[in-house]
Amino acid sequence: MLLLLLAAAVPACAGCHPKESASHAAAPMAKTLFRAADSQILKANPALEVRRDGYVWKVRNGVYSVSDGKNTLNTPIQWAFGFGNLGQTWVFERNGVLRESTVSYYTSQKGLEITPGHIDLPRRNLDEAFGRPIDPSEVRRCFGCHSTGTLPDPTPGVQCEQCHKGALKHAADLSTMPKLGKLSTDEISTLCGACHRTWEEVAVMGPHDAQNVRFQPYRLANSKCYDGSDKRIACTACHDPHSAKPPTPKVATTTKINVDAQCRSCHGAPAISHAVKKTCPVAKSNCASCHMPAVEIPGIHSKFRDHWIRIARPGTPYPD
Ligand code: HEC
Ligand code: HEC
Ligand code: HEC
Ligand code: HEC
Ligand code: HEC
Ligand code: HEC
Ligand code: HEC
Repeated sequence: MLLLLLAAAVPACAGCHPKESASHAAAPMAKTLFRAADSQILKANPALEVRRDGYVWKVRNGVYSVSDGKNTLNTPIQWAFGFGNLGQTWVFERNGVLRESTVSYYTSQKGLEITPGHIDLPRRNLDEAFGRPIDPSEVRRCFGCHSTGTLPDPTPGVQCEQCHKGALKHAADLSTMPKLGKLSTDEISTLCGACHRTWEEVAVMGPHDAQNVRFQPYRLANSKCYDGSDKRIACTACHDPHSAKPPTPKVATTTKINVDAQCRSCHGAPAISHAVKKTCPVAKSNCASCHMPAVEIPGIHSKFRDHWIRIARPGTPYPD
């Protein structure tokens, strides 16, 4: 009760920081987890179905089921993970254990397909085909990246205080906040890497194949362009952390920040101060379309921009 009162007494950030709050509220990062009843994808798709390996999975009005033709298991979905740029994966309970759905909604397919990471899992019986049990430490990690707080009552989505440590105390007593704008490029990579994975994590744990194109801090730091103390190559040089826009094929203009201008700030005419000498012998614009190629992860039906900026010659292997 006391805790509830304290929580209610903390003024919202929006009252004092309207600009960041308004754009953050609309960003996919703020909408990356839903209670099933709030999922637009579930609302817009009241009847989904896919048949694979002798099983039929269905999602009907928020109820997930799998059948082998003789028997059926079903359960209401509890949590929907993902805004839906790539898709959405569901989490539900069976016998007191949370599970990740064997099939997910894929935006590119407008329907169900096997969930990333499930393709090679055994499906010898209905129970295995139903979903992958998630152990408690992994549950904490999933909700730690896609929400704020912990089960049973997390606040869905990445909230201000996940990047701005100490913000709740500051909102209550106006204690001084560190300015994240003063962080170095390495420090920003580590901040974003808490969820997008750090260079160290991927270097040690892998994966060392095209799967790691998802992990931008790792890819970017491997690029010759990267300098941990040069702000022109920080995540925030190309992305406004408060309004990450959905990726679209028109690379250079989707982020409000002009990516070409960022590249040119280093690869510009000699007149630009601190510009490195090398300029492009091939083109003058849309730099990322050639030097940050879109890479498709096998089985995921989605493409990611490779942040390992490079001369990507056709037919050369993926550097990992
Ligand atoms: C009652 C008004 C108020 C509330 C509520 C509030 N802030 Fe602030 N915040 C301020 C003021 C005033 C400053 C100091 C601005 C300055 O020095 O220019 C500040 C500074 C900051 C800074 C550092 C910015 C800078 O330029 O120094 C951050 C980051 C920040 N607030 C985040 C938050 C977050 C996140 C929340 C919600 C959890 C929040 N604030 C809630 C008034 C508020
Ligand atoms: C270490 C942090 C982390 C953990 C743990 C994590 N995720 Fe994510 N997840 C991310 C990030 C960052 C993205 C966005 C980039 C990407 O797609 O790789 C993402 C993207 C997704 C997407 C696609 C979102 C979209 O809009 O298309 C889904 C679905 C998803 N995660 C589900 C899950 C589920 C289910 C779990 C747990 C079983 C989980 N994630 C665990 C960080 C995490
Ligand atoms: C994904 C991480 C992330 C989230 C979530 C986030 N911010 Fe920020 N915020 C940053 C970063 C990084 C900067 C520095 C940006 C720059 O370098 O221009 C920043 C800058 C700011 C500033 C300017 C002062 C400073 O620290 O440089 C304010 C004020 C602020 N954020 C408020 C908010 C509020 C309010 C929310 C929630 C509505 C929020 N932020 C959510 C990462 C985040
Ligand atoms: C912080 C400055 C900086 C920024 C920003 C930057 N680069 Fe670079 N880039 C460099 C440096 C330094 C090198 C290495 C030059 C050398 O080898 O002499 C480099 C090398 C390259 C190379 C050659 C790589 C190779 O394998 O030989 C390409 C291509 C390139 N950059 C393209 C880009 C593009 C496209 C962008 C924007 C998406 C960009 N760079 C942004 C500093 C930068
Ligand atoms: C607390 C975890 C967390 C942190 C910290 C975090 N992210 Fe994210 N980010 C996510 C998740 C989860 C998603 C997937 C959103 C969705 O469902 O589509 C995401 C998605 C994104 C996207 C893609 C948005 C889109 O439109 O598709 C960008 C760009 C991004 N993050 C940039 C950043 C940057 C830059 C930082 C550091 C300043 C950062 N993130 C820090 C969790 C995080
Ligand atoms: C030189 C510019 C640049 C820098 C620096 C940069 N990005 Fe990106 N990022 C892009 C571009 C371009 C896209 C593709 C946008 C599109 O297709 O609309 C992108 C896309 C993304 C996405 C969406 C998923 C994907 O891979 O396509 C995420 C998440 C992301 N960036 C995170 C980060 C993080 C975290 C950092 C820092 C480690 C970072 N970016 C640094 C230019 C940059
Ligand atoms: C149509 C594809 C394409 C576009 C668009 C493009 N480049 Fe290139 N770029 C290349 C190719 C191919 C090479 C390698 C040329 C060679 O060595 O034969 C290259 C080489 C480079 C190099 C290395 C030059 C050297 O001396 O080693 C840099 C730096 C570079 N590009 C930066 C950029 C920047 C910055 C932009 C945007 C203003 C850009 N590129 C746009 C295809 C492209």
